[in-house]
Amino acid sequence: MKLLERVIKNAQSYQKRIVLPEGNEPRTLRATEIILNENIARIILLGNPVEIMQAAEECGVNIKGAVLVDPKTDERRSHYADLMVEIRKSKGLTKEEALEMLNDPLVFAPMMIKNGDADGEIAGAINATGDVLRPAFQFVKTLPGVSVVSGAFLMFVNDPHFGHDGILVFADCAVMPDPDERQLAEIAVTTAKTAKSIVGMEPRVAMLSFSTKGSAQHERVSKVENATRIAKELDSTVKIDGELQLDAALIPEVAKLKAPDSEVAGRANVLVFPGLEAANIGYKLVQRLAKAEAIGPVLQGMAAPINDLSRGCSVSDIVNMAAITSNQAAALFE
Ligand code: ACO
Repeated sequence: MKLLERVIKNAQSYQKRIVLPEGNEPRTLRATEIILNENIARIILLGNPVEIMQAAEECGVNIKGAVLVDPKTDERRSHYADLMVEIRKSKGLTKEEALEMLNDPLVFAPMMIKNGDADGEIAGAINATGDVLRPAFQFVKTLPGVSVVSGAFLMFVNDPHFGHDGILVFADCAVMPDPDERQLAEIAVTTAKTAKSIVGMEPRVAMLSFSTKGSAQHERVSKVENATRIAKELDSTVKIDGELQLDAALIPEVAKLKAPDSEVAGRANVLVFPGLEAANIGYKLVQRLAKAEAIGPVLQGMAAPINDLSRGCSVSDIVNMAAITSNQAAALFE
């Protein structure tokens, strides 16, 4: 896990401000202690400060150094509400509604980011994915030129022959249930950027299907074919090829037979699945059966890094995600 060590070291030099909306939650508090002790990031905990301190005491952790912010009384509420009304004016959001929404830490956190008061957010230890992502989509929105947010997993397999020294990036394993061809193309390009900026790999992106280079004909195959063409138009500097079956993407001998002219087939390190079903099942298969370490989802395409935790997350998942989020925040300004 040299990669994680590097990501943590980078984070220590960036000192980004990470807001954690689930401020009372025990794993979040334990992670806060570690993040602060190891100087990985600056931490803002949202919630009632008395309750947060009480919860920290019950957990036996020292969160000295964390900034505690109460979304219900913070003096920036009115300003944030004005910003929200401005951002959602086409939807007719009123200031009263915005103020009510700000009571929810999952809304307050993206508004801190939007206003430049935090650099990134991590939540999801006790909230569903949709509840974490919706306010982020609505107020932080996507990067210029990107219309969809998606989720990548860094997969650490036990065989260095695969991917980039045993690291592969899978997407979209977390967000878009059924991307169309343009969305799939965007997912490919943003995942290549994640692979480059977080893993430091030279991405070779395989657009996966159940067909290789026209071996089967079906509308789902055409979708991946078209997505591959659009992705190449969106970013001609990235090596992207498709449609490829998984074995053609990963195994040189199969690639030689099925896609001999491809510069990706046989040595892909970024796997873009045709839909969320395949991707979510796919990463879990590799994680469980091949005992790969899976880190993610790393959400990509958002104008600022906001990452969703699994409700089964561990303390170290939160610590690692804080480091990754800091690296993403730094990459935005490169
Ligand atoms: N990127 C950017 N914006 C988006 C995206 C996206 N991928 N999806 C929705 N939005 C925007 C919409 O445009 C809309 O904006 P608007 O209010 O300004 O019009 C807003 O977000 C809400 O959109 P809805 O379509 O109402 O979205 P909804 O809240 O119903 O669903 C969600 C969004 C929750 C992310 C949905 O796509 C979803 O449930 N995805 C699956 C998540 C999941 O369960 N993943 C698997 C578990 S994670 C894991 O196993 C690692």
